[in-house]
This record gives sequence, structure tokens and C-alpha cells, in this order.
Amino acid sequence: MVQTTSDPKLSTGHPQRSSSETDQIIQFHHPEQYRTSEWYTGSGEIAASGDNRSFEVTATYTLTAEVKLVDGVFEPSNPTLAEIYSPRGRCVAIVDRSVDELYGDALRRYFESHEIPLQLLACRAWESDKTPETVHNLLKFLGKDGCDVSRNEPVLVVGGGVLSDVAGLACALQHRRTPYIMVGTTIVAAIDAGPSPRTCTNGAQFKNSIGVYHPPVLTLVDRNFFRTLATGHIRNGMAEIIKMAVTDDPILFELMERHGVRLLETHFATLGGDEELNAIADEVIYRALFSYMKHEGTNMFETYQDRPHAYGHTWSPRFEPAAKLMHGHSVAIGMAFGASLAVELNWLEPAERDRIINLCRAIGLSVYHPILEDIDLMLEGQKNMRRKRGEGGLWAPLPTGIGSCDYAQEVSSGMLEVAVEHHKQLCAALPDGGRGQEMYLSDLGLE
Ligand SMILES: NC(=O)c1ccc[n+]([C@@H]2O[C@H](COP(=O)([O-])OP(=O)(O)OC[C@H]3O[C@@H](n4cnc5c(N)ncnc54)[C@H](O)[C@@H]3O)[C@@H](O)[C@H]2O)c1
Repeated sequence: MVQTTSDPKLSTGHPQRSSSETDQIIQFHHPEQYRTSEWYTGSGEIAASGDNRSFEVTATYTLTAEVKLVDGVFEPSNPTLAEIYSPRGRCVAIVDRSVDELYGDALRRYFESHEIPLQLLACRAWESDKTPETVHNLLKFLGKDGCDVSRNEPVLVVGGGVLSDVAGLACALQHRRTPYIMVGTTIVAAIDAGPSPRTCTNGAQFKNSIGVYHPPVLTLVDRNFFRTLATGHIRNGMAEIIKMAVTDDPILFELMERHGVRLLETHFATLGGDEELNAIADEVIYRALFSYMKHEGTNMFETYQDRPHAYGHTWSPRFEPAAKLMHGHSVAIGMAFGASLAVELNWLEPAERDRIINLCRAIGLSVYHPILEDIDLMLEGQKNMRRKRGEGGLWAPLPTGIGSCDYAQEVSSGMLEVAVEHHKQLCAALPDGGRGQEMYLSDLGLE
């Protein structure tokens, strides 16, 4: 529908000119019958200055992204994927190579049983593969030399956070915007990187520094995949759950305090556990997802910096690659340090900081690494974060209690040094100095 602001009733299939040439504003709602995408819509406004020399355009882009908990996504009896791909006559899929080894047969059987042709690329997706070269290879598969996907054909992406980042970016670049459906097979991908709009590759020094905002149109979360995940990766993913619990959801925090260890041991009730634990596993996953998407999903283009989910992610993008840490451990170190800094700023009670540190430690996440003492590196991380977050301030989310946070705009080098020193002393008193289990990329063979 097309309307002018001067008389909305003048709508026809075409934009109307207003009577005044000096303040002409035309709102343009594109006719529904011309729409080609079921997920993306848009409208706009064009305002002419009236002197025939300039005008201003404002456009609103609306996208719909759905997130669903499912059980047995590759079970032939589960209609979810078949309903999407059957009418389209094929499925183009990018699958993490390790996931393909474990679940490729089930996936192929699924599409065979629904008589849907499948074109699948198994892609190695190690942290070291998170590069522009990998994105180029994926683009070859998606483009004219490969499957020649259509702009409205959702690509199926199955894997962990590394794959969701690079394959999401490749989809964003193909035809400037090709939709994709994400099946996250790790905890990180299920509750965080998977539904996230932040697709990317790593830059030379900073993680995730090259990318675009392009969320999957549908995220399917099936925790049955966690059964085969290495326990180190379960632990790693739990850091992203804790960040939402600390900053946004006190009930989630209590659930993690009470059941976190059991959820780790049973891979979220997929390796044993009773009905009650199954229900708790679902609730934890749902709460973490909901809390994350409430903030990230409604702010898809990061035009606002009230982003609690950036807790633990202010300094870590600089020290994580330098220390070759697993992402979750680096986030946990960032969260624990952030809690100490919040105490220093009188934002948080020491007892609440201790609850955060104790929860991380209970599940074997690191809370300290000597790289924090490299103040120049930490300041470099802050500088980079300011650029990334728009130069308006540091916007570092720090807890103000369990389930709430605020944003530090300035952290001087003096304050940083004091907070690091106090955090170091606190962690030195811990039996293992705050080390986590399997904290390095090489521990899990991911270098
Ligand atoms: N875009 C975002 O907003 C965002 C958010 C958080 C994390 N990330 C990124 O996500 C990455 C970490 O993701 P991750 O923790 O999922 O790691 P990952 O993608 O490296 O997966 C971990 C390992 O598990 C394997 N694997 C995946 N699913 C499996 C399964 N079901 N069973 C057995 N093995 C399986 C993978 O092949 C890999 O070896 C980091 O690069 C991080 O920067 C991005």
C-alpha cells in the first residue's frame, strides 16, 4: 500500500505527490503482490526539500527470525525441515565436517525419506578456519559454480558456532542476502552464535572483526546433539548461559547453581538423567535463548548498546586469541574479572561476585589467566571495543546484582590495574589459581 502523509486515503498502487512542493514527504509501502521474500519486508519515506536539488530517504527493514526447540530434527517423522524444503524441490546444506561424520547418515536418510534432493557441503570448521578464505570457499559452493542458490532459498546450516559465523556470512554475501536455517549442534550455537545476527570471520588480531548482521530466518534447537559433544564443549557453552543468567535472569542463575554440574555431567540430560532433569535442561536452554534473543534479536543491527550479552566479551576478544583460550573460558575469565571490577566500582556486593566465580568454577570454567596482567593488551582491547561499539563509550556490561547489569563507559588504566591486581589476589587464593579444565584450544584439538 502506498500513502502520502498529507492524505493517507489517497493510496493507490503508486506513490502520491503531496500538494506542497516545499515539504513533500512520500511514504512508500511497496505493494504486497510484488513481495518476493517471506521473511523480509520493508517500507520507506522520501522527503524532498522542494528546490529540486536534494531529498532524504529513510527506510525501515523488517525481518522475522523464529527460534524453536525441537526434538529429533533428523527423525523422518519430524516434519519441520521437510515442510520447508519439500515445496522448494531441494535442500542446499552446509554441514560441519565432524557433525557430518556423526549425523550425516541420519541427515541424508531424512531427506531421502521425504524425497527431497540434498546438495551438501561438509566443511571443516575449526577456530583456525574462521577466515575469509573459508567464506570464499562456501561462496563457491553457493554460487554459480556450485548450487546456484536462489535469493529466497534458505540454506541449511548444521554445526557449531564457528560454522554458523562463517556460513552465515557467506549467506549474507551471496546475492547480498540469502536466507539460512540454523541447526546449532553445540550449546554455543544452540543458544548464542546460532540465532545471532552477528555473522563473521576473525581478523588478524581480533576475533570476529569482519562480518555483517544477518540472522538465520529460523533456528532449530535440538539438544539431542549435545550427547556426542565433548564435555569440554558442553562446559564451554555453559559460559554463554551464565552470562545471560548473571545480567538478565536470576531464575536461570539459580537453576545453574542447583543443576549446572549435573547438566554438564549428563550433557544436558542426553546421557542419563530422569524426566525432571530433562525438563530442567529444556528450561535452562529456553531461558538462555529467550533472554539472549530478547536483547540481541530485537536489536538486530546493534544500533543500541544496551547489550547485556556482551558481558564477558569486552576485553576477551583481544586476549582470547593471544592466549589461545577456548571461547567459553575466555568469556568466563572476562565475566569473573568484570565482577571484580564491578565490586571495585561499588556496583556489586563481594558476596554476589563470589557467587558468579563459584558458579563458573563449579563447572570447571576458568576465572583467571595471567594475560589479564598485560595492561597494554587490555587497553588495546578497550580501544578496539570502543571502535566496535561506536566510539560513544566503552559500553562494558558489568553486573549490578544477580540478574541485572549496567554499562561502564570509562575504565581508566589506573582502575584497570587496580581491578586486575585485586582479581589476581582473589584468584591466587583459589586452590588452582582460578584455572579451568580444558581451557585451551589445543586441549580439545582445535588449534
Ligand atoms: N556470532 C555470535 O554472536 C557468536 C556468539 C558466541 C560465539 N561465537 C563464536 O562461536 C565459536 C565457538 O562455537 P562452538 O563453541 O560451537 O565451537 P565449534 O563450532 O568450534 O564446535 C566445537 C567442536 O565441536 C564439534 N561439534 C559440533 N557439534 C558437535 C556435536 N553435536 N557432536 C560432536 N561434535 C560436535 C565441532 O566440529 C568442533 O570441533 C567461536 O568462534 C565464537 O567466536 C559467535
